[in-house]
Amino acid sequence: MKTNYTGQPANRVDGSLKVTGTAKYAAEFEAEGLLFGYIINSTIAKGKIKEIDISQAMQVAGVVQIFTHENVSGLAWFNKSYKDMDSPPGDPFRPLYDHKIRYSMQPIGLVVATTFEVARFAASLIKVTYKEEKLVTNLQDNLHRSKKAPMGKVGYVQPKSRGDAESVFAKAEYKIEGEYVHAAEHHNPLEMFATTAIWEEDGKVTLYDKTQGVSNVQLYISNIFGLSLKNVRVVSPFVGGGFGSGLRPQYQVFMATLAALELRRPVRVVMTRQQMFSFGHRPGTVQRVAMSADENGKLTSIQHEAYGETSQFEDYTEIVVNWSGTMYNCENVKLKYELVKLDVATPTDMRAPGAVTSAHAFESAIDEIAYAVKIDPLEFRKINYAEDDQVEGKPYSSKELRACYDQGAAKFGWSGRSIEPRSMREGNQLIGWGMANGAWDALQMPAKAQAVLSLDGKLTVSSGTSEIGTGTYTIMTQIAAETLGMDINDVTFKLGDTLMPMAPLQGGSWTAASVGSAVKAVCEEVKAKLFKLASKTKHSPLSGAAPKELTMAEGHIFLISDPGSRLSIIEVMRLTETDSIIESGMSGPDPAAKTTHSFNSHAAVFAEVKVDEDLGTVIVTRVVCAVAAGKILNPKTAGSQILGSVVWGISKALEEETVMDNNFGRFMNHNLGEYHVAVNKDINDIDIIFVEEHDDLVNPLGIKGVGEIGIIAVAPAIANAVFHATGVRVRDLPITMDKVLQLAEEDKNQVRV
Ligand code: MOS
Repeated sequence: MKTNYTGQPANRVDGSLKVTGTAKYAAEFEAEGLLFGYIINSTIAKGKIKEIDISQAMQVAGVVQIFTHENVSGLAWFNKSYKDMDSPPGDPFRPLYDHKIRYSMQPIGLVVATTFEVARFAASLIKVTYKEEKLVTNLQDNLHRSKKAPMGKVGYVQPKSRGDAESVFAKAEYKIEGEYVHAAEHHNPLEMFATTAIWEEDGKVTLYDKTQGVSNVQLYISNIFGLSLKNVRVVSPFVGGGFGSGLRPQYQVFMATLAALELRRPVRVVMTRQQMFSFGHRPGTVQRVAMSADENGKLTSIQHEAYGETSQFEDYTEIVVNWSGTMYNCENVKLKYELVKLDVATPTDMRAPGAVTSAHAFESAIDEIAYAVKIDPLEFRKINYAEDDQVEGKPYSSKELRACYDQGAAKFGWSGRSIEPRSMREGNQLIGWGMANGAWDALQMPAKAQAVLSLDGKLTVSSGTSEIGTGTYTIMTQIAAETLGMDINDVTFKLGDTLMPMAPLQGGSWTAASVGSAVKAVCEEVKAKLFKLASKTKHSPLSGAAPKELTMAEGHIFLISDPGSRLSIIEVMRLTETDSIIESGMSGPDPAAKTTHSFNSHAAVFAEVKVDEDLGTVIVTRVVCAVAAGKILNPKTAGSQILGSVVWGISKALEEETVMDNNFGRFMNHNLGEYHVAVNKDINDIDIIFVEEHDDLVNPLGIKGVGEIGIIAVAPAIANAVFHATGVRVRDLPITMDKVLQLAEEDKNQVRV
């Protein structure tokens, strides 16, 4: 019998559903008499709506209702601002609450009609007049208005400084400093935000929603509409990409629910691609890094400050500079993180929030200081390698970053690198090799699961988590099958429904560890129950056996001492007249472990670029990404996670930015024609290495999650490779040809030392 247990490259159990189009996404659930909503967005960034004239739009045949702040804001359930599980400190934005405009493309109305096309056409007839106010959207011009970031967002920790970095830096012989900038970026998952809201006669509502957390949507919707939790069911079996954009409920779910409840009809609301740019983004950030080292390449001081943008109404925080205190041995570290309030939508988590931002600046600066002391950048990192967490003063539960360095460098051929910039070329192409490393927290959240073993020997395990394309269905099935020694085909994992046991948001790379531990725990309980039943069977080879004498494999329970003495799961249940075994349980992190150890995953990324000397174009020809993330449950799905991360890292380094027109306060390239992302032609060789890392402390499964670790070090590795190729240091992302050429030009005009 074939088993596909953990550690094996099992195929996606939901693969055939996806490729055959059978997997249903939020906008694909049907209902009798379904209505369609189209959202109207503001055209100004700041001010007030003077008048919103819906009269002409209401005349259009097929229009059922148009909701605006004028006919919604008076309702009793809308008089308080409710937070969701991923809200930062502040007052969350309330769609249709009042006539105030807080950011460009703020949703200001919903047209509901019998078809989507009619709704969209009617929306074009709505006339909105505004009173505009002066707006502020330029981060770099407003750094003087920055304020210390408050605590309050899940996971945010204030950075801690140590020693006296400033005075050491002032006296140092070898030092560098630089300012690094990246603009806002948007997630752009394939599936647009969508909700199909089904109103039911008894006052209940079922929401088929695109989300990374059904429980979060349930809580949010029940709060703002004054419904009891049991009257709000949220279902989300498949999500076409999230990357953090679905951690917070988005405004389409509010709109669809509002319309369904008011009209007592099923309503579907789907965002357009343009609207996908209207609710939060990776915040544009300005960072300054200064470092000094001694002649042996030992870091003597680190200063890292970051200024992130946030909205006027919420303080979105992420961990940017904190990593700079943990990565390397250094006694003098000064860290600062502040926010600048602008007239923009509240930024939101985007894959490896904070860490990618940090690594771009910090790991580029490490490259700069390595060059200042003329030491190979990989060697420099090894000289300053921190065995323990330098901030917490605790050992890591495991840290195989050294193995990432060694295996990554070997695969890449790093030893063949000449340190001098502009020392490798192929005709007009300057060749550069760069590297960087990254870390991410290995987190675990409390999660619940249920397992049902039925008389036909089939197991169904469920947990209200989500599948954003990461492989959750598959790895949970593997964990359950392994724990009970069953064939993977006899196990079904279900997710994405608030009727199921509660799971945390799918984010932070914690789902495998959190939900996986709960799945393992309930399956262990099923196993214990089966052993008890097996022992109770009369006149069987297992009669009277103690649990510790028993084990399971291939769908059978048998004596460890005599594998031939066995009963199948079905036989045990029949013999004991058991119709089904149902176990529920939960699992959470071990609080004691946190007091003694730190938990991080690590990665080292090596990149090769070719830069056209005349045109300044950059092509990433090779990337090796070596990852240490504990046990890898499924090298195939985990490999895809890292592959996607590397592709996105290349995209981030070279292409992605959402460009703000500060006169209008609007992101101008809010479409996939002008928001550039890497396409097939941009991607060449990518090698992924999972370094063996054994970890008994992190969680019972020994896993650390692979959702975010792969992207973190990619952009700085590429930026460092561009420096190695050209001798110019582009500190602003994305690294576009104009920046490369301009800096190369400036460089020529300088006398080189
Ligand atoms: Mo991830 S940004 O925590 O969905």
